[in-house]
Amino acid sequence: MVEFECTWCGKKYPTDTLEYKCDCGGLFRLNYDIPDFSKNLIDTNEWNIFRYRAFMPFEGSSYKSVTLGEGLSPIIAYDENLLMKMDYMMPTLSFKDRGAAALLTHCIDIGVKSIVQDSSGNAGNSVAAYAAKLGIECEIFVPENTSPKKISMIEAHGAKCHVINGNRDYCADECRKYVRESGKYYANHVYNPYFYEGTKTYIYEIYEELAYIPENIFLPLGNGTLFIGSILALEHLLSSNLIDKMPNIIAIQSEKCAPFAKAKSKNLKRIPEISPESTLAEGIAIGKPMRDKEILEYIYKYDIDIVEIPEEEILPARKKLALKGAYVEYTTAGNLAAYEKYKKENDIRGKSIITLCGAGLKSDH
Ligand SMILES: Cc1ncc(COP(=O)(O)O)c(C=O)c1O
Ligand SMILES: [Zn+2]
Repeated sequence: MVEFECTWCGKKYPTDTLEYKCDCGGLFRLNYDIPDFSKNLIDTNEWNIFRYRAFMPFEGSSYKSVTLGEGLSPIIAYDENLLMKMDYMMPTLSFKDRGAAALLTHCIDIGVKSIVQDSSGNAGNSVAAYAAKLGIECEIFVPENTSPKKISMIEAHGAKCHVINGNRDYCADECRKYVRESGKYYANHVYNPYFYEGTKTYIYEIYEELAYIPENIFLPLGNGTLFIGSILALEHLLSSNLIDKMPNIIAIQSEKCAPFAKAKSKNLKRIPEISPESTLAEGIAIGKPMRDKEILEYIYKYDIDIVEIPEEEILPARKKLALKGAYVEYTTAGNLAAYEKYKKENDIRGKSIITLCGAGLKSDH
């Protein structure tokens, strides 16, 4: 049986609920029985994330009308120690397509016809593209500093784009106000647990492609959609006895907006109030991540280090990647800058992997 469970109070909800959080304010997680991960259960006829649907809570085949061929991104060596997963090779040029494909499959399954969501840009691009393909009416709220190219792309997919004067957190507040007033479905990548069913495939692919999990996994951490999905998948590999321990996970924040780093340095269970400063790493500039409690629990449970991207290293890192043939957006260049900083300050053993999760053409202002 598939059901939502509140991450705070444990109350259960059916997955076709139109509520986006529990009465107590807690966000949902998904409960369902999942078989042990096994290569034999991968549907190798599907060249998209739904090849892993044996480990997702979908019944039926609605995914066939949803998929745009997301996932299956190659892994390339940056040097002998560092691997890069080319997650900008996606239908809308960012890893968010993994989550959007799963989220929109759920929308189709429960008969939703009109959706609203807020985003720093990439998640909005993804949700707008999949909604367009499915004929679902879509509205996206973005903050005013969003790259114009991301806004044009949202509009090109036929979605209405509300550009909000204010930062990413204010934009999210405005969007939820609109959701409450309009009664439309909040197809949000942070709130809706189905999104993480898609981002889980990031790790499944690494495991299928390399046949091992690298010792050090660097993950960007804004709202944590890739972070949480990756932890769920790693826990799944662990409980399936395919890895014997969790890898060394390193979360990446911007030094201009690092609520999790602040919380961890003070051993807090919730993030403190911070004032985000402006950064080129717009994708992770999240001052009030809604799943902070859950994410901090993982950080303490798995002793996850947090590295802050030095702002002045973003452009040089972007250049280095471009000279290796990979043209990525600023937030993504920050992943390499963060890896290099961490490597300087720590004795890293074994292989590391970073994600190149957003394409460069999207962030030239
Ligand atoms: C390029 C890029 N990297 C990383 C992230 C961070 O993802 P999350 O906020 O889910 O942690 C985003 C989010 O928009 C992004 O666009
Ligand atoms: Zn609750």
